[in-house]
Amino acid sequence: MTDLNTLKTDLIAQVEAAPDAAALEAIRISALGKSGQISELLKSLGKMSPDERREQGPLINGLRDAVAGRIAERKAEMEAAELDRRLAAERVDLSLPAPPRRRGSVHPTMQVMDEMVSIFAEMGFSVAEGPDIETDFNNFTALNFPPKHPAREMHDTFFMAADEAGDRKVLRTHTSPVQVRVMRQINEKVPAWVATGQEPPIRVVVPGRTYRCDSDATHTPMFHQMEGLVIDKAVHMGHLKWTLETFISRFFETEGVVSRFRPHHFPFTEPSAEMDVQCDRSGGDIKIGQGTDWLEVVGCGMVHPNVLRNCGLDPEVWQGFAFGFGVDRLGMLKYGMPDLRDMFAGDARWLGHYGFSPFAMPNPATGLS
Ligand code: DAH
Repeated sequence: MTDLNTLKTDLIAQVEAAPDAAALEAIRISALGKSGQISELLKSLGKMSPDERREQGPLINGLRDAVAGRIAERKAEMEAAELDRRLAAERVDLSLPAPPRRRGSVHPTMQVMDEMVSIFAEMGFSVAEGPDIETDFNNFTALNFPPKHPAREMHDTFFMAADEAGDRKVLRTHTSPVQVRVMRQINEKVPAWVATGQEPPIRVVVPGRTYRCDSDATHTPMFHQMEGLVIDKAVHMGHLKWTLETFISRFFETEGVVSRFRPHHFPFTEPSAEMDVQCDRSGGDIKIGQGTDWLEVVGCGMVHPNVLRNCGLDPEVWQGFAFGFGVDRLGMLKYGMPDLRDMFAGDARWLGHYGFSPFAMPNPATGLS
């Protein structure tokens, strides 16, 4: 008969000495496995006399419980120790810099529009908007383009299909139709525009997309303009010139930009002019303030009396000036982008190079980030 106490002492000693989970499992199998020492003892109970069994049963079961209990405790201790070890080894170091993340950038045209709006806002202009699909009336007729006049062709217009009445809408060729909307307060259920009063004086700028069937280094079928309109009782060409020159020097953040006014013709202004900015296009880049080239950036003039009349304003009471900037062109000049077509090619590498961080520090000149 095995001495149960000796066996217990021996097994417990083995359990205590087991160096790892595998050794502990080997001890468990040799003691409590199918033909383990304790299992064999339990089997022997069946062959005992009832008296013997009554005496040995509790002893053998007690041995089993003691050994199994100690094995379970050791196992839990080992697992806890292993967890502690892993926690210590795999600790996250919060002081490490975060891995770089891909971040989008602001398209130069949107950046330029924001800069322009903030400069005009400081001069007291508010922002108005209109739809890209415009009526022929707003885009042409109200702006004093005579019907069937070749001036309409001059704009290389994208016409929409005619409706039952034979009217063709157009993809607006300029932002000037929003002048008409502002003056007439036409809404036409198109989510239209913000922030103008009902009556003159009017001082608005109109940023937006415009369309013409044209493509070369300085023309794309879709481009951006910013219209300006000022209507009041004693407005003259001097105000116009001051406004544009002040804008240009703020926009380029220097007094050193050379610009010139050239007489021009627009159906909706009289007199009309265009303003060019001096630049150098001889290298791969475009540079302002040097060179022998000029880039036309804005058309302008005094609002034609016919336009005022078409919009319900009496030209004997109200006058005003208007201008229409090529936004993308201003961006090309300011940020040195030589080809307008690249701006809308959707090449992420180009955007990565010329785009602006959405989280940049505010620009001290404009207050914009
Ligand atoms: N709409 C003209 C164009 O797209 C630009 C323009 C010229 C706008 C003179 C004006 C203006 O408001 O007065 O070429």
